Amino acid sequence: MGEASRQGVTGRVANTISPDLLERLRSAALEAQSRSYSPYSNFPVGAALWTDRDRVVTGCNVENASYGLTRCAEQTAIQRCVVEDAGKPLVAVVVGNTDRPLTPCGSGRQILAEFNPDLRVICFSRTGEFAEFTMRELLPGAFDRDGLEGTEPQ
Ligand code: THU
Repeated sequence: MGEASRQGVTGRVANTISPDLLERLRSAALEAQSRSYSPYSNFPVGAALWTDRDRVVTGCNVENASYGLTRCAEQTAIQRCVVEDAGKPLVAVVVGNTDRPLTPCGSGRQILAEFNPDLRVICFSRTGEFAEFTMRELLPGAFDRDGLEGTEPQ
């Protein structure tokens, strides 16, 4: 946990992600969050991916009157990452208006894990408190393309 906005980045994150990059990603995620379409939940979420091509790709949740068609912020960020050919995500930052760092929902984790099972996920609260996870911590034993191996032909 930390207080990125006030005292800079401390702890484990500082070893490999610079405070500048973390702040850049958080700002991008906040900007995306401000464009969230969430009239049903009033729970805006923003996400920012940093890729191996040094690209920052953002997403926000996009809800629907048919509630189940809602797309989470992590998902829309991944979709943009693919469409824009932005590269492999290395870090994901997620921001919510929450008291505690907002961790991705289960489907968001699965969608992120598809593109990097070693993704680092940094979750922010509304005050800038954050918690860092690896994707393997968030989704141990993920179903992946290897899980499709070995099926019998029908
Ligand atoms: N939501 C996200 O976009 N990402 C998350 O990680 C958690 C939840 C959205 C989905 C829905 O629009 C709203 O937050 C309330 O669940």
